[in-house]
Amino acid sequence: MTRTHIGDLKEKIGQEVMICGWVDVRRDHGKLIFIDLRDASGKVQMVALPNHAEAHTATSAVRSEWVLEVTGKVNERPSRMINVDEPNGTVEIEILGIKVLNEANTPPFDVRSDGKEIGEESRLTHRYLDLRRPRMQKNIRNRSKATKFIRDEFTKRGFVEIETPLLSATTPEGSRDYVVPSRLDKGKFYSLPQSPQQYKQLLMVAGFEKYFQIARCMRDEDTRGDRQPEFTQLDMEMSFVAREEVMQVNEEILINLVQTLYPEKKIQEIPFPRISYKEAMEKYGVDKPDLRKDKEDPNLLAFEWVIDWPFFEKDEESGGWTFSHNPFSAPQPEHMTSLLAKKDIPNILTTQYDIVMNGNEIGGGSIRNHQPEALKAVFQIMGYDDERIERNFGHMLEALSAGAPPHGGIAWGFDRLMMLLENEPNIREVIAFAKTGEGRDLMMHAPSELDSKRLKELGISLTKGKS
Ligand code: AMO
Repeated sequence: MTRTHIGDLKEKIGQEVMICGWVDVRRDHGKLIFIDLRDASGKVQMVALPNHAEAHTATSAVRSEWVLEVTGKVNERPSRMINVDEPNGTVEIEILGIKVLNEANTPPFDVRSDGKEIGEESRLTHRYLDLRRPRMQKNIRNRSKATKFIRDEFTKRGFVEIETPLLSATTPEGSRDYVVPSRLDKGKFYSLPQSPQQYKQLLMVAGFEKYFQIARCMRDEDTRGDRQPEFTQLDMEMSFVAREEVMQVNEEILINLVQTLYPEKKIQEIPFPRISYKEAMEKYGVDKPDLRKDKEDPNLLAFEWVIDWPFFEKDEESGGWTFSHNPFSAPQPEHMTSLLAKKDIPNILTTQYDIVMNGNEIGGGSIRNHQPEALKAVFQIMGYDDERIERNFGHMLEALSAGAPPHGGIAWGFDRLMMLLENEPNIREVIAFAKTGEGRDLMMHAPSELDSKRLKELGISLTKGKS
């Protein structure tokens, strides 16, 4: 007999079927033993009757989370037994035979609850169990639907999905890089990308014109509820565009995504309102104001674009200038002269646009400097000498001198977006294998020590003690 998915049982009334899945719960009423069996497509109540003696005995032995193969008859439930709250509430399986495919240790926590009552350390240590809970199944499955939707939307508009390297060189995105030692080039290190920023610009130089990627990014920064050391961006870039066109296409796709996959949600204002950084700070005291008119409504989404950001800000450590968002951004056209002359620095505005939803920054991007002199001027304002500019960004300056088209793009913080769409308080709830607040993977025991042989092979010696 071939396997029937539990979600399809309603079409099999009166038939004998074989189903496979996990024991969600077992209720022993002596003569009658009930088991709810769960697979990826749903859940069904099964009953073992004393007249099928062998199946009845086998059923009395099984426990929660055991994996079973069950043959049984699909019966319609008598009307007083119908459960209108369950998709399979009108049917019941009469167990004819049970094969235990695997037993299971008693789980460390209940996998049927929403999990909010369980300590996070325990949930992350046994994540494969935690992911069994309906809330996590829903979040991860909806995330997959959103990924596919976005892929289709960008592809349909002529964007090419291109993967960019993870083993790479440093990208300045305002955080620290994670580094990977090279075995063949002892004493040298790769950096894991904080974003595909430089690669996507190089793809514009290469003539792709429209790029996107569901990109993994790594940033060695303090973890918070809306920040993970490893996270996912929907990253995109386009050539021959002004700020308006990039904002337009992203706004359109965001609206389509919400309206198609989350029809219960209401977008407060379309087109998305725009607010300057200055106005946001003066009126709301924050650079990502929550514009919702009703903050009690979990289905209200207030998007806005925050624009007209200052290009540079004072670096607290060095006292010099640093970029406020992205060193690769272009200034607004009327501020290009100041940038090139390195004058009037605090008043230079960038083409940066941030997309904010319900007070959360869910994305940011800009039009870039496609002329090498302008990019060089940014680094000079930041106090980099020629040698450092050449060492870190020589390849970018050279590429921009190879016929670079005007271009710009954006990256959405995809985990943050999913967190908000799923009404979750934390991005860990929409990431299958998330890390703790201290950046640890408790299940895989990462980070972990390297044995002395590996260290030697990599040419690394550790200083004693923890600093
Ligand atoms: P930025 O650094 O603003 O821009 O990142 C884009 C978006 O990514 C999300 N984000 C994060 N999400 C989870 N955990 C983190 N640690 C984390 N850090 C950032 C935010 C943010 O808005 N290359 C540019 C984009 C561009 O200019 O095209 C960039 O990475 O939602």
